[in-house]
Amino acid sequence: MSANTTSAKHAATPIGATVDEQVLVLDFGSQTAQLIARRVRENNVFCQLVRHDLPASRIRQIAPKGLILSGSPSSVYGKGSPQPDPEIFNLGIPILGICYGMQVTCHTQGGEVAPGQTREFGHAPCRVLSSSGLFDGVPQEFQVWMSHGDQVRDLPSDFEPIATTETCPHAAAKHRTKPIFGLQFHPEVTHTEHGGQLLSNFVKKVCGCRGSWRISDFIESEITGIRQRVGNNRVICGLSGGVDSSVVAALLAKSIGDQASCIFVDNGLLRLGEAEEVRDRFSQHFKTDLHVVDARQRFLDELAGVKDPQQKRKIIGRVFIEVFRHEAKSIPNAKFLAQGTLYPDVIESGGSPDGPAATIKTHHNVGGLPDELGFELIEPLRDLFKDEVRQMGLELGLPEHLIWRHPFPGPGLAVRCLGEITDKKLTTLRQADAIVIEELHRAGLYRQVQQAFAVLLPVQSVGVMGDDRTYEDAVAVRAVQTDDFMTADWFHLPYDVLQRISTRITNSVRGVNRVVYDISSKPPSTIEWE
Ligand code: XMP
Repeated sequence: MSANTTSAKHAATPIGATVDEQVLVLDFGSQTAQLIARRVRENNVFCQLVRHDLPASRIRQIAPKGLILSGSPSSVYGKGSPQPDPEIFNLGIPILGICYGMQVTCHTQGGEVAPGQTREFGHAPCRVLSSSGLFDGVPQEFQVWMSHGDQVRDLPSDFEPIATTETCPHAAAKHRTKPIFGLQFHPEVTHTEHGGQLLSNFVKKVCGCRGSWRISDFIESEITGIRQRVGNNRVICGLSGGVDSSVVAALLAKSIGDQASCIFVDNGLLRLGEAEEVRDRFSQHFKTDLHVVDARQRFLDELAGVKDPQQKRKIIGRVFIEVFRHEAKSIPNAKFLAQGTLYPDVIESGGSPDGPAATIKTHHNVGGLPDELGFELIEPLRDLFKDEVRQMGLELGLPEHLIWRHPFPGPGLAVRCLGEITDKKLTTLRQADAIVIEELHRAGLYRQVQQAFAVLLPVQSVGVMGDDRTYEDAVAVRAVQTDDFMTADWFHLPYDVLQRISTRITNSVRGVNRVVYDISSKPPSTIEWE
């Protein structure tokens, strides 16, 4: 279930309340701010995004080991440009400013920022002048990734340059006596060589972090936290079959066992064997109370005759909530609802008290549950990135194939069965889809593709079978490569894999005589067809 709703009822824990060392990223609006946090966490150091103007007094309370000031699309001289609380530079906490973060640091400390001779985007060779801890283990010369218009022309008098490029004399700088550093380039992106080493040097050598944050410890503290919060009450958890809700359910099973009631709505829009798999996994391996609601006919009836994609999504969203609510009411003493909200959802919805403001992003909310269900929310994954949730799932004993499963939309096969939905069409699509996925696994490509599936087109075309002329359905195959699902490229599947998929579908799926491959990227297309 995608859980994009952040309820006012969520009892917000203070940032990083359960960790003994952490680094904060002050988010000035850079697209790579989340990436910085992920890179820091790769060092087993907990890291979260906070508002760029979080007051120094609040930062003192949180007591992070270090602060990283992110980049920004703004210029420090621009009207309303985001500024940090200047007191943060007097806290004695190590600071690393990246790009705009460096410029705003130098500007605040009395330096001069000015437009560079040209806007600089791309690789540049960088020469280290002084290691200063930050460049330990990094070669004297290495390639960095620049993306900036302004740069620091005159360093504040207390600062000295520690690295330089041809067009940027102050590619890196440091305060002469305080642990304050600036980098004009972006160490968080993979295009910067040794960028990971630089961030690691900052958090470990400069900030003195030990790197003691482990998912296994996080699991233990979440389990204790859930037990304390739930007491003798009951928790409801919506299972979708996907990674996030499965990890939440596994955590609940470990912490409160049969005080958790999982609800799995079989809407008839799932892939081949999926409903059975969810049922088996959770009834056999986890000691929770599992409610499987067979709502297949109800969804089919409500969708009968509906062709418009938006209308289909609305119906599915509404019926899901109705079915879920009805089942939830049958469970006595349920006070809490557990959801698989992830950290990027929390950031993007502005759902953390110290966190950055909400960013405008159209997200899909089918499968989300409304606040008026009246439960208190438990969101045990709200501090985690997706890769960390996967790691947690593995440590909790969930099977690998579930952990690496491609995302599946809330409205399921309904958005891949174009036009009107019928039981017969769903059966056809399910078989074709299973072949696509099987062949990707067989070719060892499943993990290289972020999402792949079959689409049943509302198109009939002429074919021949033996001596007979056929007039049957067409199936499109979609496979994409993407980092964030906001943009995507079609995957260059090898011809022999495409050939096997096509042959198997046309030979074994009744009613299909043609297979086409979708070679559209997003944008202008979307990943799903509806
Ligand atoms: P599009 O088609 O917009 O999809 O390029 C981007 C990603 O979002 C998934 N998706 C959904 N997920 N509910 C969901 O939970 C939905 O209604 C929905 N629609 C699309 C899609 O599968 C892809 O991963």
